[in-house]
Amino acid sequence: MSSNQLDKKSQAWSALFSEPMSELVQRYTASVGFDRRLWRADIAGSLAHAEMLAAQGVIGAEDRAAIERGMAQITQEIEAGTFEWKLALEDVHLNIEARLTQLVGDAGKRLHTGRSRNDQVATDVRLWLRDEIDAIGALLAELQRGLVDCAERHAEVVLPGFTHLQVAQPVSFGHHLLAYVEMFARDAERFADVRRRTNRLPLGAAALAGTSYPLDRERVARTLGMEGVCQNSLDAVSDRDFAIEFSAAAALCMVHVSRFSEELVLWMSQNFGFIDLADRFCTGSSIMPQKKNPDVPELARGKTGRVVGHLMGLLTLMKGQPLAYNKDNQEDKEPLFDSVDTLKDTLRIFGELVGGIVVKPEAMERAARRGYATATDLADYLVRQGLPFRDAHEVVAHVVKTALQRGVDLSELSLAELQVFHPAVREDVFEVLTLRGSLDARRVVGGTAPAQVRAQIARHRARLAG
Ligand code: ARG
Repeated sequence: MSSNQLDKKSQAWSALFSEPMSELVQRYTASVGFDRRLWRADIAGSLAHAEMLAAQGVIGAEDRAAIERGMAQITQEIEAGTFEWKLALEDVHLNIEARLTQLVGDAGKRLHTGRSRNDQVATDVRLWLRDEIDAIGALLAELQRGLVDCAERHAEVVLPGFTHLQVAQPVSFGHHLLAYVEMFARDAERFADVRRRTNRLPLGAAALAGTSYPLDRERVARTLGMEGVCQNSLDAVSDRDFAIEFSAAAALCMVHVSRFSEELVLWMSQNFGFIDLADRFCTGSSIMPQKKNPDVPELARGKTGRVVGHLMGLLTLMKGQPLAYNKDNQEDKEPLFDSVDTLKDTLRIFGELVGGIVVKPEAMERAARRGYATATDLADYLVRQGLPFRDAHEVVAHVVKTALQRGVDLSELSLAELQVFHPAVREDVFEVLTLRGSLDARRVVGGTAPAQVRAQIARHRARLAG
């Protein structure tokens, strides 16, 4: 299409068409309203393509210079907000190309040699997503550092660990936080892995079959910092699996944030009272003056649904498409953009929020004691005195039953009282019945002993340094 033809696209695509597109169809098929955010990637891709075309002698050096000049001006216009995006020009690619041709004439018309919007859009989305993955990696590292700092401050604080949301065994609050550091570290690995497969070049695939021009695809890939070229033209223009993989990693990362959010909400409720959140992350109620609500974690939990939904949307978008490019693929952008925006906002806010967690150690310890969190330790003690574990388990069940009836903690029973249940109990039993004793005993790698927690913190700090 010439610049004139591009400008008149609202009338008809080419000489082949006998009537213009209806307004409604134009609006329905246009993507410029959302894909314009790909403009930087679109220009970078075009510049790399033009540089290679000139190096291969497909266009002249003066054409390349004109294209660069035009793109520099377009960059300025878009950054200044003066660029006029036209719905009639359908998408980001045609908008930029039309303006380029307006600015530099025939050189602009030569840019699309050996290229199609099909390989162009696939390249743009990959370039854009690659950079977003890098930004997400940085935010994930920041969040992990915040959690590690908080874990270090609270390595000695005892929290009741839960299974079935029933008090199970005491754990270090730092240990609990480090569980999330592990999850976010795996998320970061997943994103890095997705990045490798995203960072490959579709350009050169043209519409679907490759091109007859002597393109140097490897050169373009190098210019764009990509790790190689897509090796099958049909696959290059049509699959969006990199976007789907990314969405899966994003959904899983949001699920991790959501689990953490659920805990923050629970811990902050009066029924737990384990933590408080700094006021700047909470809101009040318009009717109940006493309320302080953990809106940020609640919203993060809610937004997780959106991101999980986008993954389903993209999978469904792909499943019925025959090779090669289909317009269906234009629908990949809004879910992908929204997942990226939602995830980045969420990670950024959680990176700050973890610094605003106010821990209430007495409430946590009280809850651990109330739930007989050291019952397993008493059983383990009896095992060390020679009882088979199943018998020890049974003895302790009786001890707990009695303590429950009397409303006291295990450590509040006297030695004589404990010996009624089993004569092997000695004075040293009280060392294991304390929360701290229970914690310290779990020194196995990955266990909750504060010494272990500190070792893990050191490992994470080394990993996250730089
Ligand atoms: N806006 C289109 C997209 O997002 C660009 C590719 C259009 N290609 C075409 N043959 N209509 O997928």
